[in-house]
This record gives sequence, C-alpha cells and structure tokens, in this order.
Amino acid sequence: MFSLEARVALVTGAGQSVGAGIATVLARQGATVIVNDLTIDRAEKVVAAIAEEGNHALAAGFDVTDLDAVSAHVRESEAALGHHVDILVHNAGVALERTNKRFRELTPDQWSPSIDLNLYGLLNTTRVVLDGMCDSGWGRIVQVSSGSARTGQNIGVSMYAAGKSGGEGFMRHLAAEVGQFGVTANILALGHQKNLEEKMPPEMIDRILETIPIGRLGDPIEVGAACGYLSSNEAGGLTGQTIDFNGGSQTR
Ligand SMILES: NC(=O)c1ccc[n+]([C@@H]2O[C@H](COP(=O)([O-])OP(=O)(O)OC[C@H]3O[C@@H](n4cnc5c(N)ncnc54)[C@H](O)[C@@H]3O)[C@@H](O)[C@H]2O)c1
Repeated sequence: MFSLEARVALVTGAGQSVGAGIATVLARQGATVIVNDLTIDRAEKVVAAIAEEGNHALAAGFDVTDLDAVSAHVRESEAALGHHVDILVHNAGVALERTNKRFRELTPDQWSPSIDLNLYGLLNTTRVVLDGMCDSGWGRIVQVSSGSARTGQNIGVSMYAAGKSGGEGFMRHLAAEVGQFGVTANILALGHQKNLEEKMPPEMIDRILETIPIGRLGDPIEVGAACGYLSSNEAGGLTGQTIDFNGGSQTR
C-alpha cells in the first residue's frame, strides 16, 4: 500500500526542515524525487542523504517565483529522468516579511515577497507540471500551507497568510477543474514545527506547546508521511480538502 514506485515527485523548498522530510519519505516510498531549493547546496545534501538510504533523487536549484526558471529546470529534470512529474508538493514558503510587523507598519513594497513565494510559487510550479499530469490521467498536488491561512493572529504575518490563503482558494478550484483527469489537489495546513526551536526563544516555545494537545512540535518525517499518503494511488478519492496537521491544536 501507498507505494510510489515509478512515480516522479517534485518537492519545492526541500533543502531543509519540513521539505527535506517530505522528500525523504516520498523517496522511501519508491518515488524518484526532484529536490528543489533556492540554495542548490542544500538540495544536494538532501539528495546525498536520500541516496545513502538507497533511494533516488536529483537536485534542482531554482526560484519557484520565477516561472521561466521553474519551467526550464523541471523540463531539464524530466528529460534526465525520462518521465514527467506525477507528484508536486509545493512546500517552499516562509513568512519573508516576518519581522513581526503588523500590516500598518508594512510599506507596500513589503507586501509582495511573501505573496510571490506562497501564492505565485504554487501557481508557477502547478502550471509547469499540470499538463503532464492531466495528459497521463494521473497526478497529485499538495500545497503545504499553515493554520494561519484560516485564522487571525496578532503576530505580524498577515502577508504570509494572504499568500497561503490565496493558495488554498486556488487549490479548491484546481481540484474541481482537474478531478476528471485523475489529478487530485489537497492542502496540508501545518501547525508549529520542530525547526521553530532554532528560531524562537525557549519561553516562546513553551507557550506554544501549551496550545498543542500532543505536547510537542511537528516532525518533518510525519509531515512527509501525510504527503506520502496524499500522493498515493489509495488517496485518489480525496481531493479539494484542507487537512490540519497541527497536533490537535484548536488555535491553528
Ligand atoms: N516551520 C513551521 O513551524 C511551519 C508552520 C506552518 C507552516 N509551515 C510551512 O511549511 C513549509 C516549510 O517550512 P519550513 O519551516 O521547513 O521552512 P524553512 O525556511 O526551514 O525551509 C524552506 C526552504 O525553502 C527554500 N526556499 C525559500 N524560498 C525559495 C524559493 N523562492 N524557491 C525555492 N526554494 C525556496 C529555502 O532555501 C529553504 O531551504 C512552508 O511552506 C511553511 O510556510 C511551516
């Protein structure tokens, strides 16, 4: 069950943390994984770790906000592998404007970076792989989103939320458009992940943990396992859905 043998997967922003976990799990399930990152060295390290486990991957360094670059690199990877991309996990996306600035404090030129990455990155990568999926009659698209797309938080991430929620709306319409071609489109809305421990002071982590019923932060391999299921044949009946993956947190 849940085998991804003979599938080609593209995971964006997979050079570290959550994306690396997703790439690792998809490769363990048998997919050949195109490991994308803006920083090619990071992608190559993940590819080496996947190869060490005896699985298959190749690195592709490109910026998901640049449609021409996405297209050129994806076509090049597909030619090298002799197969089109069957599975897209759009994971690249962080709150670029995350300086804890509220909307009133942001200048208009600070609006677009997070929207470009979280929304246009999803549109660009989807546009480049969608025809191959539809023409072959099978495809899986997963947007890695965040609980902050559907809830208000006074922590200065409004543009991040604008990008993520725009992407979620797009995914629901995409699911309706491409279901007839055997292509599914789902959203995994993450809660707080382990790598926040590197970015936040311990007392802030403790406050976050109080809001998570399982009492711990998210694990990239577990997120990878969820993506692995959503990417499988067995998940063909599940589309257009948002799955909260947040340890049971009610605050998202
Ligand atoms: N970490 C969390 O607590 C958390 C919570 C909710 C949602 N998420 C979501 O999970 C996903 C992964 O988050 P993370 O914490 O692992 O991020 P991260 O910052 O640790 O890693 C993101 C990777 O994406 C790459 N990247 C950035 N911009 C890119 C671009 N334009 N093109 C290609 N690659 C690019 C970076 O180089 C980096 O290696 C994101 O979509 C994020 O919004 C994370």
